Amino acid sequence: MFAERIKNRLLNQHNAGLYRKPVEINKRQEKYFFIGNRKVLNFASNDYLGLGVSDKLKRKVSGNFLKYATSSSSSRLVSGNYSVINQAEKEYARFFGYEDALFFPSGYQANIGIVSALFEKGDLLIFDKHIHASSVKGMLLSGADFHGYNHNSMSHLCKWLEKTSKNKPAVLTESLFSMDGDFLDVQGFKALKERFDFFSIVDEAHAFGATGENGKGIARDVADIGVGTFGKALGLFGAFVLMPADFKEYFFNFSSPLIYTTSLPEAHAASAIDLLGIISQCEKQRKHLREISSLTKEKLVYEGFCVKGDAHILAVEIGDENRALEISERLLEENIFVLPARYPTVPLHKAMLRIGMTALHTEKDVRKLVSSLKEAYGKIEKKDR
Ligand SMILES: Cc1ncc(COP(=O)(O)O)c(C=O)c1O
Repeated sequence: MFAERIKNRLLNQHNAGLYRKPVEINKRQEKYFFIGNRKVLNFASNDYLGLGVSDKLKRKVSGNFLKYATSSSSSRLVSGNYSVINQAEKEYARFFGYEDALFFPSGYQANIGIVSALFEKGDLLIFDKHIHASSVKGMLLSGADFHGYNHNSMSHLCKWLEKTSKNKPAVLTESLFSMDGDFLDVQGFKALKERFDFFSIVDEAHAFGATGENGKGIARDVADIGVGTFGKALGLFGAFVLMPADFKEYFFNFSSPLIYTTSLPEAHAASAIDLLGIISQCEKQRKHLREISSLTKEKLVYEGFCVKGDAHILAVEIGDENRALEISERLLEENIFVLPARYPTVPLHKAMLRIGMTALHTEKDVRKLVSSLKEAYGKIEKKDR
């Protein structure tokens, strides 16, 4: 019975153009991947500052792994609560301007861990319809009621807030949206927060490190809780949640995804501390990232593509899932690695090509991307006519 179900579901997935299969990468080198016998230019990563391949960070991290044990070998609440982790959390809270911080093994776990623990039946959560799957999963697990507002629509959010008569609601959003690549309307959000006094959780996974002064993101002013991951601009792995005082104690007691998992090792925390110094010094990379991203968008729009994105994530609207997949395959033939984002990551029939710009990309890379995309798109249009 289960075997039959698996077969049928995979077949349906294929037919709908939604089938997923990870591409096997033999090697990563700077901004390139080696896939099969090809050397391809990578436009599908979140390594916005290029730190994931930086020798400086590699040396720091490997030094830390030589100094400390390879694993914490326990959950935080048993024997995995090392001084260096607490020190790193304090430094993250101070750097990003919050009272406290807590590390999680991943951003996915962090969102589930905080949202499911903070809220309960009877609470009301209002969320941007484009927030990450992990926050949605957290809401489902919490038992609270939740309503989505149209993506980045402050007027729609306002309508929901006006309708709520009971306890103060909580609002969940991202500061730089992972798929659309647009920024939260921080001023609009701030005005609503002042008017309705709601509690806010702002996921800055794609903003921390890459945006704001010294990489501090854009939403400190409007976030009660800020969520960051190490796996994107910070070039490491794991996640951090920035929060008011007392919350950490609460999560240690009530957040099951934190309580029942092995904590990140000491070497991670020591590397996280090193990273704060590194990201403060990445102004040159952030400037280049802004400029090269804006140039890419400009060139794509000039070629007639519909492109969303205010910063280093650019979403080229395609619509049909199979077409998006085919364009991505043709780009790979041209040694360009760009992946389609498809349902359920984005709404059905709103497939897009998600371009992740990094500080490693050059104008030449952008020219190659744009001309290959133009050619691939043109060929497919012609074939479909
Ligand atoms: C907005 C957002 N939050 C959280 C996550 C999860 O982070 P991690 O990859 O560390 O699990 C992602 C990852 O894709 C994301 O885009």
